[in-house]
Amino acid sequence: MLEVVAPRQRLRTSAISGIFRLAHLSDPHLPLPVPALRHLTLKQVMARASWRRKRGRTHGGRTLELLLGDIRGMQPDHLVVTGDITNLGSKGESLAAIPWLEALGSPDAVSLVPGNHDRLVPAADAGCRDWQRWTTGDDGRAGWPFRRDRGPVALIGLDSAVATPPGMASGRVGERQIDALEVMLSAAGRAGMFRAVLIHHPPILGPGGHRKALTDRAALAACLQRSGAELVLHGHHHAGRLRFLQGPHGVTTVSGVPSASAGAGAREAAGWHLHSIARRPGGWWIATEARRVDHEAGAMRVAGRWEMFLPSAAAGDLAAGAHAAATASAAKAPETPPALPFPAAPGAQPAS
Ligand SMILES: [Fe+2]
Ligand SMILES: [Fe+2]
Repeated sequence: MLEVVAPRQRLRTSAISGIFRLAHLSDPHLPLPVPALRHLTLKQVMARASWRRKRGRTHGGRTLELLLGDIRGMQPDHLVVTGDITNLGSKGESLAAIPWLEALGSPDAVSLVPGNHDRLVPAADAGCRDWQRWTTGDDGRAGWPFRRDRGPVALIGLDSAVATPPGMASGRVGERQIDALEVMLSAAGRAGMFRAVLIHHPPILGPGGHRKALTDRAALAACLQRSGAELVLHGHHHAGRLRFLQGPHGVTTVSGVPSASAGAGAREAAGWHLHSIARRPGGWWIATEARRVDHEAGAMRVAGRWEMFLPSAAAGDLAAGAHAAATASAAKAPETPPALPFPAAPGAQPAS
C-alpha cells in the first residue's frame, strides 16, 4: 500500500473573482508496491529493472509530499494529472494509487488521463478502469474522451496510452477519439468555453524522438488546428515546456510539466504549473506560474511566469485566420511557434 502523503482535503470547486485556477501535475511514478517477478511480462521486468536503476533512486516520496503541500496551499479550483501515475501498470499499483488519488481531493475536483506506464501491457486496461471516478464525464460515462465543465473551462481528456513492445514508449489516440474530440471542441467553442485538452503524450514531436512520440500526432494536431483549443496539458517528457499550435482564430498553447516526483538526482527538478484563466472582452487571459521543487532549500520556488491573451472564437470580433502572434497582447507572449523551455533546463533530456 502506498503512503498517503497529504491530508484529505477538498479542493475548491468554485472560482472567485472571475479567475479559474487550474493546477497541472504529471508523472508522479508512485513507488512500486514490490510486484512478484513471476507475475510480470518481459516488458514489465525490463521496466522494473529500469525503475530500480533510475527512477527508484531519483523519484522520491518526500519530493511529491512537498509538491502536493504546495498545490494545496494554492487552493486551485481543479487539479489535472496527466498520467504515468504508476510504473509497471500492474493491477496492484493501480489499486494502491487509489488512496493517493483520493487524497488529492474530490474526484469532481480532480481529473486524470493515463500515461504509457499505466498501460505498459494490455492487461493494464483493467487497472485504468479502477480510476473511473476521475475520468467520468459530465454525461456520466467513464472513459475517453471525457468532457468535464468546471467554471468557464471545458476539460477534455484523451487516452494516448497504448501497450507497446519493449523499448518503446510511444502513444496513440486513434480515429475514434479524434473524431469525438472534434465534436467536443466545436461544441465547447460554440458555448464560449475555454477548452483545455488533457493528454499524456504531446501532439508535437518532442526531443524524445519517435520512440516516445504520439504516432498519430499529425492527425491530432490537425484536429486542434481545425477546431481550436486554448490549451493542451501534457506530461511524458518530464520537462517543463511551452509550445504552440496555430489554430483557426489564435494559438493553442501546449504546456508540459516535469515529473511531480523527480528527486535531487533527476535531470529536471520536480514541479507543477498553476494556470489562472479569466474571461476578458474578446477572448481569454491566461497566466501560468511554473513552480519547482528546490531540493537544496527543501522548499518550492517560482521558476517562471508567463501570460498571454487568447482571442475567443465565440467572441466574433476577430477575423478568422488572424495570426496569433499579432494578437497576443501580453508583453511576455512569445512568438509562434518556437518551444519555450519553462524553465530553462540546460542539458536536460526528456524521460518517458
Ligand atoms: Fe513518465
Ligand atoms: Fe510517459
